[in-house]
Amino acid sequence: MPDPIFAHPRLAALYDTFDGDRDDLDAYEEIIAELGARRVLDLGCGTGSLAVRLAAAGLSVTGVEPATASLDVARAKPGAHLVTWLPEMPRAQFDLAVMTGNVADVFTTDDEWATVLTDLHGALRPGGHLVFETRRPEYRIWDEWSVPVARTRDVPGIGPVEQRFQLTDVRLPLVTFRYTYTFPDGETLTSDSTLRFRDRNELDAGLTAAGFHIADVRQAPDRPARERVFLCERP
Ligand SMILES: C[S@@+](CC[C@H](N)C(=O)[O-])C[C@H]1O[C@@H](n2cnc3c(N)ncnc32)[C@H](O)[C@@H]1O
Repeated sequence: MPDPIFAHPRLAALYDTFDGDRDDLDAYEEIIAELGARRVLDLGCGTGSLAVRLAAAGLSVTGVEPATASLDVARAKPGAHLVTWLPEMPRAQFDLAVMTGNVADVFTTDDEWATVLTDLHGALRPGGHLVFETRRPEYRIWDEWSVPVARTRDVPGIGPVEQRFQLTDVRLPLVTFRYTYTFPDGETLTSDSTLRFRDRNELDAGLTAAGFHIADVRQAPDRPARERVFLCERP
């Protein structure tokens, strides 16, 4: 069940404004071009920021997102008609599957993580690639999150919305936080999220157990030291 921040229609409509210019996606476009992929699965595509970019560049893109409200935002974007949008993974074979925006960290249990890796393996052609980022636990980002933060953004069509962020629990490897949004009409909505921080050994073991060959592990260029970007191949 996706968190309210992705699944509640009023909150999903805020996602792109608060997420900024998404220069983190440039690296993924470059990796997808480097690997020569033409048929791409974007798992946990959210509001479709990467999917519409890839489709505009001529790739065949399927965006999978269980939060209907986020998919509705994605479907309303210019060029969205070029993307196949689905609430769950199709039975198809892709050249490449990608998870951006730390989607990998939302799978908090061992079972969920093993299942999604097996499903992704099955969704790739032999020689196809899985590319995803995940937060490095050694960086201890939760230490930076311990100070509550508030910011206000002018959301197109909505007006000024305040977002407050609060770390609510650290029980490693799980970290939980809450976003609280206050709308111009006075409504306040909250969204709690828990992320799983996996270390390199755990990631290697899970990927290998699912049948992947780890071809490379890179830095996220926009967040050096904070993230790992895995390039894995289905042999
Ligand atoms: C932080 S957002 C990233 C969205 C998008 N990839 C991006 O870069 O903007 C995490 C996404 O993972 C999705 N998600 C949550 N549970 C999921 C699941 N079981 N399978 C696939 N996606 C899931 C959420 O709904 C949300 O859209």
